[in-house]
Amino acid sequence: SDMVVKKIVCVGAGYVGGPTCAVIASQCPDIQVTVVDMNAEKIRQWNSDELPIYEPDLDGIVKKCRGRNLFFSADVVTAIREAQLIFISVNTPTKTYGLGEGRAPDLKYVESVARTIAECAGGPKIVVEKSTVPVKAAQSIAQILYAAQRDNPRLSFQVLSNPEFLAEGTAISDLLKPDRVLIGGDQTAQGLAAIAELVSVYEHWVPRERIITTNTWSSELTKLVANALLAQRISSINAVSAICEATGADVREVAHAAGTDSRIGPKFLQASVGFGGSCFQKDVLNLVYLCESLNLKEAADYWMGVVNINNWQRRRFADKIICEMFNTLSEKRIAMFGFAFKKNTADTRYEPGSRESSSIYVAKHLLEESAHLCIYDPKVPADHMIAELSNVSGSARVAKQVFVCNDPYAAAKNAHAIVIMTEWDEFKELDYARLYASMMKPASLFDGRVMLDHNKLVDIGFYVHSIGVKC
Ligand code: NAD
Ligand code: UGA
Repeated sequence: SDMVVKKIVCVGAGYVGGPTCAVIASQCPDIQVTVVDMNAEKIRQWNSDELPIYEPDLDGIVKKCRGRNLFFSADVVTAIREAQLIFISVNTPTKTYGLGEGRAPDLKYVESVARTIAECAGGPKIVVEKSTVPVKAAQSIAQILYAAQRDNPRLSFQVLSNPEFLAEGTAISDLLKPDRVLIGGDQTAQGLAAIAELVSVYEHWVPRERIITTNTWSSELTKLVANALLAQRISSINAVSAICEATGADVREVAHAAGTDSRIGPKFLQASVGFGGSCFQKDVLNLVYLCESLNLKEAADYWMGVVNINNWQRRRFADKIICEMFNTLSEKRIAMFGFAFKKNTADTRYEPGSRESSSIYVAKHLLEESAHLCIYDPKVPADHMIAELSNVSGSARVAKQVFVCNDPYAAAKNAHAIVIMTEWDEFKELDYARLYASMMKPASLFDGRVMLDHNKLVDIGFYVHSIGVKC
């Protein structure tokens, strides 16, 4: 091909765009990478000492590359004009209105980036869809770009799909050592040439056999399928956890023994209070909507079951807390340990229609029972918790019943129960005898992550209740 990628721009300086570009810049000293965003405050933070997101090892990589071949800018137009390759890495939240409300992803941000590219490209570009989108989204982007190309012979575009598989909390190691990189594109001479350009970027650090190339639709669909399969494993083990609680089987033993079969595998079988995060529910609903729009009702129902079990698991855990505490939480203080949807991340962003952490829902159910919640999380800022809880429970109720604590011992003081919501490592190391001594009696502990030594807690005096274990 006649194009060599020397400058990359990424539109969207979020959880995906920021870390991805930091890693590309660190691995490709010969390429200049600029990350742009319409949110100027976010760009200011990326250029400061306090990055807008927390990921292990992100700080070091950004500091090493920033100003060398990694730049953060609010000047979207200039960066697009100068780059040969453009990543679209904007958010694609679940639609909260109109056709497909509550299921279909909202592509308005993706479309607006495509229109900006069409307006200001000035020359040939490879446009790479990195956001998670429905199948055929690349075609919509291409339609906008080709309309501009028709009016201006200096323009030419190739649209590729290159979904991101990183998980929050391990973004940098996932990016440095990916299981695979997936690139889809048109199976034409120009399409294959564009694919080869993007392959050569990743080949700087990813072994060639780990870079999979497919047609555009396979690549788009694979992203939805990968998240749906992962979420399905969690819903499967969570459905099993309820059977364990009722029968005396132990979900840890079942997951281990079943997962030892190499065809099943040990990962992603950790029973929990339900999956959270910005993408699993959103992307499964995206797949459900795709099935529905293709008139595949049975397939849609099948995947919808994954989301239904997740909601049921959250409700079930809250109900267990209420039941075990004599059916009333009125005026009782409950210490919630953890608010983040998983450890090593502070991300509990609230996007209407795609709510994040299971903690928000369990808290909502407990607040409706008039409980007083004292929440401790090592990373999530207090104002985030208050904002998210207010969103689902109303700010008046939250102001009266929610207290954010700076340490777990303060949260547990005079509480009737401790509820483990996030699997932070530090919760394993706490002095539970000291916590117990400061609590009201009888003191209960609800392990929503099946992560503590329950026998030890029982010896201390706790009434212990756990997901997936008959207590
Ligand atoms: P994010 O909300 O953290 O970041 C998106 C950014 O895009 C925001 O900063 C927003 O201001 C910016 N933006 C939106 N429209 C814009 C426009 N027209 N011009 C310039 N900037 C614009 O989102 P994210 O978590 O980085 O996710 C991005 C995409 O990647 C989503 O489709 C998501 O499903 C997918 N994804 C996310 C993860 C994850 O772990 N968060 C992992 C894999 C894939
Ligand atoms: C997930 C996928 O793992 C990534 O591959 C994908 O790129 C990303 O979604 C995305 O598309 O956004 P993430 O949501 O960051 O990443 O985190 P996960 O580690 O997958 O955890 C998601 C949720 O499932 C968390 O609440 C976690 O606690 C829960 N979980 C995970 C379980 O309850 N049990 C498990 O065994 C594993």
